[in-house]
Amino acid sequence: MPLRITLTLWYGSALAAVLMSFALVVYAVMAKDLREQVDRQLENSAVVAIRSLQQKGFGPFIQFEDLSDQFPELAVVDKFFQIFSPTGRITIQSPNLRTRDIPLSRTSLESAFKGNTTLESAKFPGESPIRLISVPIVQDGTLVNIVQVGTSLQSVDEALHRLLVVLLLTGPVALGLSLIGGWFLAGRALRPVDQITSAAHRITASDLSQRLSVPTSSDEIGRLATTFNDMIARLEASFRQIRQFSADASHELRTPLTVMKGESELALRRSRSGDEYKAVLESNLEEIDRLSRIVDELLFLPRADLGQVKLERQVVKLDALVTDIQRQASVLGQDQQIHVALGPVDPVEVLGDEWRLRELLLNLVDNAIKYSWPGGTIELSLTRQAPMARLTVSDRGIGIPLDSQTRIFDRFFRADNARTHSKKGTGLGLALCKWIVEAHQGRIEVESIPGEYARFTIVLPLAPPAS
Ligand SMILES: Nc1ncnc2c1ncn2[C@@H]1O[C@H](COP(=O)(O)OP(=O)(O)OP(=O)(O)O)[C@@H](O)[C@H]1O
Ligand SMILES: [Mg+2]
Repeated sequence: MPLRITLTLWYGSALAAVLMSFALVVYAVMAKDLREQVDRQLENSAVVAIRSLQQKGFGPFIQFEDLSDQFPELAVVDKFFQIFSPTGRITIQSPNLRTRDIPLSRTSLESAFKGNTTLESAKFPGESPIRLISVPIVQDGTLVNIVQVGTSLQSVDEALHRLLVVLLLTGPVALGLSLIGGWFLAGRALRPVDQITSAAHRITASDLSQRLSVPTSSDEIGRLATTFNDMIARLEASFRQIRQFSADASHELRTPLTVMKGESELALRRSRSGDEYKAVLESNLEEIDRLSRIVDELLFLPRADLGQVKLERQVVKLDALVTDIQRQASVLGQDQQIHVALGPVDPVEVLGDEWRLRELLLNLVDNAIKYSWPGGTIELSLTRQAPMARLTVSDRGIGIPLDSQTRIFDRFFRADNARTHSKKGTGLGLALCKWIVEAHQGRIEVESIPGEYARFTIVLPLAPPAS
């Protein structure tokens, strides 16, 4: 069932319940008030009647007119009076009762003998109900008279009936009107949801560039739209990355294959000497090495992403590692007369995987050598700034163009100046470095002026002190 109908129905039933209880309360309070008012008027009239009787005396020949002359309050149209003797016989009656007698009920008589006033309702066929008060008049301990005042309940009943009709008529109308209002309001409140739904429908995997127009309010709908847009943005970014990745990967794989194919075809064009074949095979072997390295790294990074690569967590003496790498790098740099120097090296221990950390440093040093000017200097340094260790590898070389600096950690990314400077490289080294650093809860940063220098800084948390 659509949310709009559900909301309206809920709203309608709640409102109906409220209206019904309201009507019930109004009716009950009104009925009670009106009846109490009648009773109070009867009591007042009885008091006047008794007072007039007491002043006139209780002689058997007294007439109602004698009383009403003196007490005009008694001659009211809507009330009648009867005075009974203790035997229950009528002695005086107001003129508006002439047509009939209303007998004294048994209960009134009994309670009159006990000295109690009785209030009762009575109904005679073909007439509207009446309300009666019977008050005993006691002198010197004996009952001398019973004064009864009565009035018709017709006006009260009519008023209550009118109220009931009004409530019964206006209740459903009010309910209907507010249901229409509720339906309208629910529609208004849900309209943005409909808009979001149809917009979300338009956004497909092939076109993730679309966004929902976000309502400016920060209410539920606004937050929903913002969250949805953020999600689409993340999806778009990862889709783009995947597309870029496969394009780059196939490109990188094709280069060695093209080289191998070209060289083999060339060699097969005519018969060659053993040395020539050997040279081709050696060159092919180099390309195969490159291919298998690419494939290895291609396999490693997704596994790392999926968390399938296990890292050791042991105390690693980073200072020893740095001096070791410096020795290795000096050998690697010999061909290009690159000097690998050591800056300050503080004694530092971190928790992690020694083999991976070595790979990380080797990759950075490899880049530094590859992208240095011949005869340049590379400097390694390691400082301790509790609670972190700071490791830097800096070189003087081609540097990294500003617009490439954020992308060099992407897989397969190689800056243009790097491609012209060195044919070798697939652009996976720094992606691997980034993964290793982050797996050690650290971060890697780069700082460079193109054509002058590049400095990579790694910040790793120190190992907790041994207790
Ligand atoms: N020290 C550096 N100086 C200048 N540019 C660098 C330096 N280190 C990295 N870069 C830039 O970052 C890019 C990515 O480096 P990365 O190590 O990932 O790839 P690569 O060295 O080109 O290839 P690979 O390491 O996979 O053999 C490089 O192609 C280069 O453009
Ligand atoms: Mg590299």
